[in-house]
Amino acid sequence: MRPGPTISPTVWLTGLSGSGKSTLARRLAATLSERGRPVEVLDGDVVRRSLSADLGFSREDRRENIRRVALRCRELNASQIPVIAALISPYADDRAMAAEIIGPERFREIYLSTTLLVCEARDPKGLYLKARRGEISGFTGVDAPYEPPTMPCLTLDTAVLDIDQCVKELLIILSDDT
Ligand code: ADX
Repeated sequence: MRPGPTISPTVWLTGLSGSGKSTLARRLAATLSERGRPVEVLDGDVVRRSLSADLGFSREDRRENIRRVALRCRELNASQIPVIAALISPYADDRAMAAEIIGPERFREIYLSTTLLVCEARDPKGLYLKARRGEISGFTGVDAPYEPPTMPCLTLDTAVLDIDQCVKELLIILSDDT
């Protein structure tokens, strides 16, 4: 029997800064590439130097950032390219908008639930320290909110699971589609 048509999904990684989104996105993409699968990564830190270079971190700018990334995901998915999007995307409303733009059947919300305590201890870019000192304002988790997903496809705590275990769980989610 020939396999039915496959759909190219967007794996949307949401969580605090330092929760492991970028690392996981890169590792998952590398694994898919090794298997000869097409894949694109849209990472908040990268996007904010290109597609969203004109945006800051106000409520409105974050929404616009999510909107632009979601539109890009939709285009790529329509070209049969699975996407891994790694953005804090702290507001439930904005993630719902992304799901709407991308299409609920393609949108896979993955919650990196790594706690603020752990993310702040990791502080890979020294931004939590700056936020605590008041050198950055409106930093997610410090003086800006993060609204956890209520019904994510999958929840991963990178303080509990190592990167290979996280990749394995995501591959299971993707195996139906790619
Ligand atoms: S989002 O809120 O719009 O989804 P995005 O994922 O694109 O955020 O960018 C987050 C990255 O921007 C963080 O990992 C961090 O390096 C940097 N950053 C700079 N200022 C802030 C801030 N006020 N809040 C959160 N992240 C910030």
